Amino acid sequence: MEKSIHYFENPGIENTDKLIELVKERKEELNIDYIVIASASGSSGVKFAQKIGNVNIVNVTHHAGFRGGDELEITAENRKKLEDLDVEIYAGSHALSGVGRGISNKFKGVTPVEVIAETLRMFSQGIKVCVEISIMAADGGLIPTDSEIIAIGGTGTGVDTAVVLKAAHQGNFFDMRIHEIIAMPRP
Ligand SMILES: Cc1cc2nc3c(=O)[nH]c(=O)nc-3n(C[C@H](O)[C@H](O)[C@H](O)COP(=O)(O)O)c2cc1C
Repeated sequence: MEKSIHYFENPGIENTDKLIELVKERKEELNIDYIVIASASGSSGVKFAQKIGNVNIVNVTHHAGFRGGDELEITAENRKKLEDLDVEIYAGSHALSGVGRGISNKFKGVTPVEVIAETLRMFSQGIKVCVEISIMAADGGLIPTDSEIIAIGGTGTGVDTAVVLKAAHQGNFFDMRIHEIIAMPRP
């Protein structure tokens, strides 16, 4: 079987619009029913939901307090738009850092889960994010683990990476399977 991977010259937000086209095409080819996207502010989530229909979309934002305080980063305006577009919004502990981040911040060590995260970043930040948000959405009961979904992540802001994967819950994380890479930054 031959399939294409789109490589972006650079990571970052400027790849978001092209990624929408690529995801739309692959979603139709594979009859994908669920898309999970990392979008902290909700901006990338809104862009995808406005252009890709006939699919369930889950917008995962950062956990409350990620940037201090107790606030969620998703804006009120984007929350309203996502709700109007029937997009599920999810915020919860980050699967690939979690309490481990608290332990390493305090004791200056590293936890196994953070090693997994850094290993996935050898592909791209976005691949790590795709895996992480798929666990989170599966554990939130928002995506199935017995069928293929598309996961989308990026590098800081916007999105530049998309994969087709079968998700898993945190308790059997290593059952997750990444079937196809749709796009990622090459550097
Ligand atoms: C749970 C979660 C974890 C994330 N982890 C990372 C990360 O490790 N590295 C990174 O570059 N971006 C990370 N991001 C950012 C996303 O990949 C994406 O670029 C961003 O959420 C897009 O948000 P926007 O639509 O507000 O621009 C993370 C986002 C979320 C929601």
